[in-house]
Amino acid sequence: MPSQDRYVEAWKTLIELRQSGRIKSIGVSNFNQDHLERIIGETGVTPSVNQIELHPRFQQRHTREFHSTHNIRIESWSPLGSGRLLSDPTLEKIAGRHRKSVAQVIIRWHLQEGLIVIPKSIHQDRIVANFDVFDFELDSKDLELIRGMDSSDGRTGANPARAAFLF
Ligand SMILES: NC(=O)c1ccc[n+]([C@@H]2O[C@H](COP(=O)([O-])OP(=O)(O)OC[C@H]3O[C@@H](n4cnc5c(N)ncnc54)[C@H](OP(=O)(O)O)[C@@H]3O)[C@@H](O)[C@H]2O)c1
Repeated sequence: MPSQDRYVEAWKTLIELRQSGRIKSIGVSNFNQDHLERIIGETGVTPSVNQIELHPRFQQRHTREFHSTHNIRIESWSPLGSGRLLSDPTLEKIAGRHRKSVAQVIIRWHLQEGLIVIPKSIHQDRIVANFDVFDFELDSKDLELIRGMDSSDGRTGANPARAAFLF
C-alpha cells in the first residue's frame, strides 16, 4: 500500500530480522520498479524475491529486465491466470502437441522463463499433475506463440501502485 508510505520502514524491519539471524532471506510482493528502486536506494539491501502477477496473458517483460539486472528472483502469482487461461485455444494447441495438460504447459513455460512458480489447487490429482512437467520441453515455436499472448491490460488483479491490499 504505497499510499501509506510505510514500506521502507517495513523493509528496514525485515533487514533487522535478517541481521539478527531470525530469518535467512527477505523478499517482497507486489513491488513495482519504483518501489524496488526506493528500498534499494534507501537501505542498500536488495530483496531476494518479488512475488508479482505474471502469466502468459501478462508477461511483464520490461519489469523482468529490471529484476534480472538486480538479481531479484520473480515468483509469479496467479501463474495459471487464476485458472482463466486453462481453456485458451493457443495453449490447448500446444498442450495437444505435447500430450500434456494446459496447466502443465503454463507451468513449464514459467520454469523455462526462469520464474518461480507455485500454482494453487485444492485437488490432490491436480497438485500431482502440476509437478509432472519435467518430461517435456517447449520449443521456440511454442515460446513464440505464448509470447504473442502477452497483453498490457492482461492483469487479473489490481495494479500495485494503486491497490489497497486490505487483509
Ligand atoms: N501476492 C499477491 O498479491 C497474490 C495475489 C493472488 C495470488 N497470490 C498467490 O498466488 C498463488 C496462486 O494464485 P491463484 O490461486 O490466484 O491462481 P492460479 O494458481 O493461477 O490458479 C488457481 C486456479 O487454477 C485451478 N487449477 C490449478 N491447477 C489446475 C489443473 N491442473 N487443472 C485445472 N485447474 C487447475 C485451481 O482450481 P482448484 O483449486 O479447484 O484445482 C484454481 O481455480 C496462491 O498461492 C496465492 O496466494 C498472491
